Amino acid sequence: MNFSHQPIERNIGLMIVLIVLTVSIGGLIEIVPLFFQKSTTEPVAGLKPYTALRLSGRDVYVREGCYNCHSQMVRPFRAETERYGHYSVAGEFVYDHPFQWGSKRTGPDLARVGGRYSDEWHRIHLANPRDVVPESNMPGYPWLAKTALDPKSAVPKMKALARLGVPYTEADFAGAEKELTGKTEEDALIAYLQGLGTVIKPRTPAAGLPGSDPVAAAPASPATPAAAPPQVAVANGSKPK
Ligand code: HEC
Repeated sequence: MNFSHQPIERNIGLMIVLIVLTVSIGGLIEIVPLFFQKSTTEPVAGLKPYTALRLSGRDVYVREGCYNCHSQMVRPFRAETERYGHYSVAGEFVYDHPFQWGSKRTGPDLARVGGRYSDEWHRIHLANPRDVVPESNMPGYPWLAKTALDPKSAVPKMKALARLGVPYTEADFAGAEKELTGKTEEDALIAYLQGLGTVIKPRTPAAGLPGSDPVAAAPASPATPAAAPPQVAVANGSKPK
């Protein structure tokens, strides 16, 4: 008996059922194994849940729509790793709900911006980007420095995240209010930015060699590293101060 497409193409109901069946099987085969793969579900070595301050900064980032111009995912291509550092791995984002990967890059990717500039650079840049990068078309966010954080705002968010599996402890909840007291939204946002991508070491020439995978050998690094010298040239040619 010869198989013919005709009965399927003439019966839209049957075609819909068969398409749904095919797509579901394909989808299941691609997606389900990821739930059981350690590389996608386990945090990379040294990854810690966001502190109350960084978590508040992350919410400012989301509220202000920074993701409309900035992605947070270094793709595994040479042009990207030369510019930004080690490509992003899934294990860096297991505590992100929701993640900020994105694909819109009006500005540079921020997945590894932590430690690239000093806190002071960020303060000037956030108030008016053109003070440090004359050709920048990023908007200024001068009100962040004048807006105080509500010290009580973090614990409910941390508790919600804990229910999603982020390993916060009672000590984290207890210390949250103190951590936010006297801090502005700008302090929080900068703390958040300074921690981005710092768990995996910056890419060094040796890191590319087999057997020296920085993902496996990532040390725990401080959430707010000191003003590190920029290792990656800023594509717009500006030199961070
Ligand atoms: C309209 C698009 C746009 C928005 C919205 C935007 N940015 Fe930018 N951003 C840029 C552009 C363009 C640059 C590159 C020029 C510069 O450094 O100012 C940039 C650069 C940066 C840099 C320096 C990155 C590097 O590697 O040199 C940081 C940090 C940054 N933005 C953070 C933020 C934060 C935080 C927000 C939200 C509060 C934000 N941006 C919102 C467009 C934007």
